[in-house]
Amino acid sequence: MATHTLGIIMNGVTGRMGTNQHLMRSLYAIQQQGGVRLDDGNAILPDPVLVGRNAAKLEALAAQAGGARWTTDLDSALADSHNTIYFDAQLTRLRAPAVAKAIEAGKDIYCEKPSGASTEEACALYRWAKAKGVRHGVVQDKLFLPGLIKLKLLIDSGFFGQILSVRGEFGYWVFTGGDAIPPQRPSWNYKQEEGGGIIMDMLCHWRYVLDNLFGLVRSVSCLGATHVPQRWDEQGRAYACTADDAAYATFLLEGGIVAQFNSSWCVRVRRDDLLTLQVDGTHGSAVAGLRGCVLQPYAATPRPVWNPDLDSPIDFRADWMAVPTNQVIDNGFKAQWELFLKHVVTGAPFPYDLREGAKGVQLAELGLRSWRERAWMDVPDLQV
Ligand SMILES: NC(=O)c1ccc[n+]([C@@H]2O[C@H](COP(=O)([O-])OP(=O)(O)OC[C@H]3O[C@@H](n4cnc5c(N)ncnc54)[C@H](O)[C@@H]3O)[C@@H](O)[C@H]2O)c1
Repeated sequence: MATHTLGIIMNGVTGRMGTNQHLMRSLYAIQQQGGVRLDDGNAILPDPVLVGRNAAKLEALAAQAGGARWTTDLDSALADSHNTIYFDAQLTRLRAPAVAKAIEAGKDIYCEKPSGASTEEACALYRWAKAKGVRHGVVQDKLFLPGLIKLKLLIDSGFFGQILSVRGEFGYWVFTGGDAIPPQRPSWNYKQEEGGGIIMDMLCHWRYVLDNLFGLVRSVSCLGATHVPQRWDEQGRAYACTADDAAYATFLLEGGIVAQFNSSWCVRVRRDDLLTLQVDGTHGSAVAGLRGCVLQPYAATPRPVWNPDLDSPIDFRADWMAVPTNQVIDNGFKAQWELFLKHVVTGAPFPYDLREGAKGVQLAELGLRSWRERAWMDVPDLQV
């Protein structure tokens, strides 16, 4: 049995996503399980090198991850031929220049979304990666959520009949930092000048979710808002919020499905999960959360009658049935990493490439334009 050991440069690994999802729950977890097993019995073993600006943080994180390699010198990591993959989870606006440099160095690329700060930037990365012949991928983690996998199963089985509409509710209250409760998201998220904003953040996700599950997104109308005008940063300093912290978007899909998504960092949760997707079809409906999914078929649909003078005789929440968990579903980030590593070593298909990533940026950019111009925007096929 042979082991393919892959040196993986992890830039931006001290951040929220880098540390929790990509290092500890993905690459370190893959190491702990003995690597990614291939059909021929061989295995792929990731060998990450943690890259960042703060040596003390990197050293501590490296120890936490079983003594991983680390450096503050990206260029030396890129120059080392043992490192064949470059992964980027830095701030969005730093992504494209760093990824371009790694492509230039001949590295295979895997990165967080958005894959660029603009459609042009994201498309340029795709073109560059293609021209250099490196393998490439962008995180599309929501597709690997247990709840969405169950939803996909329902779609594929024809459960819904004709799908009419999709309602996405995403968000939770993000504390401002102005009191004893620390904010749970970084301050750059709320600054336009630092690449923040929920439209750029979330419409990238909604693009691949809609394209893959329901139909290609053909047009978008989006209203953004900056509901909370002031927040406090990591050092406790007050700052003015310049980026959108809520987005109210409607999408028209090929085939006629209407999708509406509310995305907000200024909302309190009274729903099944931080993200819920309700799908209504002629034969039935379903609501998926991060892990669970409930359904209501046509024949079990209650027949409500409007009467505000009576407490409702129907317990609307009780009339749903849970989709069983029939398979073990691993962490989505890890599952996608495993597919990418297989793609790199064996050439197995990996559809979530830089072109798909650029489509997310395109939708976010058109969403921002729709808000600015107070107009519907068509979503043309991406010209790369
Ligand atoms: N897939 C998802 O669900 C998901 C969720 C959240 C964030 N993201 C994406 O991941 C990326 C990182 O987001 P995050 O929430 O982990 O951010 P974060 O602020 O927690 O981490 C940012 C990382 O970039 C590094 N960095 C490099 N140069 C920097 C600079 N000049 N200023 C500040 N930080 C710098 C930081 O040290 C840190 O390691 C973003 O592009 C974001 O869109 C994806």
